[in-house]
Amino acid sequence: MDEETITLLGLESSCDDTAAAVVRLSGGKGAILSSVVAGQTDLHAAFGGVVPEIAARAHVEKIDLCAEEALANAGASLGDIDGIAVTAGPGLIGGVLAGVMCAKGMSAATGLPLLGVNHLAGHALTPRLTHGLPFPYLMLLVSGGHCQFLVVEGAERFRRLGGTIDDAPGEAFDKTAKLLGLPQPGGPAVEAEARKGDPARFAFPRPLLDRPGCDLSFSGLKTALLRARDGVIAEKGGLTGVDRADLCAGFQAAVADVLAEKTRRALDAYLASGPEFPSLAVAGGVAANAAIRARLETVASGAGTRFVAPPLALCTDNAAMIAWAGIERFRLGHRDGLDLVARPRWPLDIAQPALIGSGKKGAKA
Ligand code: KG4
Ligand code: ZN
Repeated sequence: MDEETITLLGLESSCDDTAAAVVRLSGGKGAILSSVVAGQTDLHAAFGGVVPEIAARAHVEKIDLCAEEALANAGASLGDIDGIAVTAGPGLIGGVLAGVMCAKGMSAATGLPLLGVNHLAGHALTPRLTHGLPFPYLMLLVSGGHCQFLVVEGAERFRRLGGTIDDAPGEAFDKTAKLLGLPQPGGPAVEAEARKGDPARFAFPRPLLDRPGCDLSFSGLKTALLRARDGVIAEKGGLTGVDRADLCAGFQAAVADVLAEKTRRALDAYLASGPEFPSLAVAGGVAANAAIRARLETVASGAGTRFVAPPLALCTDNAAMIAWAGIERFRLGHRDGLDLVARPRWPLDIAQPALIGSGKKGAKA
């Protein structure tokens, strides 16, 4: 049995959530002792998106309070922890800097080791915290800012099999909601409408299915939705509830079809390397979509692969995943110094040529 015990404080501030958490590795298992997330939705609501300067200022105001609260909730003080893990990128640079400076301050004051964590590694390693998943597993990250297939081979070894060449699916859900007058974030609203609608009424494209590989594209779907909406409006002078539900159902079915087929191909590529415990894990807000999740589960079981979805609060942005990724680095012997740099861009798979826009658009990662 692994007797190693490591307790880290994690800090996250790369987008619009200020978060802190205390996570412990003990007996080979991870446990979340506390996790605090302070969202900023209200601050950005009037602007229709995240305003980087407002986000950065709010992180500066909140990050130390979140850290204090996380320590208190864990019944711990700085003297009880072994180090401080902090998101050092990718993300909105003002926010990342706020977290990195806070972590450096604490490290300088206490002498505790500092660990810079890649935010995407945080997402990608979460199934090891929640399910103890062994390497290598296939990870599909689907959020408002990201969509990529990664083979997670080690705590610092990620092989990207493909990803979006334009929008992320969550972004497409949000834009669809906007175009149909539904509330933000769009995903849950579109999903609720889609449940009532007929997915066959509108013929939406399935972008890039005709091309080999597992790259994806979602910007054409958004345009198709706009055209279909305008077609109905031109014909009838407006949208009925049924029209809206049918548009949502058609759009969601297209996203689900594309994600399912590309996941099947990514699984093929991953399985070809002969993993001992074949597993497909998902993370990101879009993985909350029941219809999409069910399709991915079917794809996984069809390929004899275990399907793992961490609880939603750990799929979306949080600091427990940062503390955990820090623990994974810590046990490999890594430590960062006070010269740790905040990075707005930081691809996980540096061996791969960057995609157009690195598959990253918008504020979220
Ligand atoms: O992971 P997340 O909380 O934030 C980042 O993007 O990092 O994901 C938020 C995205 C939003 O675009 C939201 O519309 C989408 O996830 N989302 C959904 C659902 N719930 C959230 N998309 C589809 N169906 C849902 N049920
Ligand atoms: Zn994220």
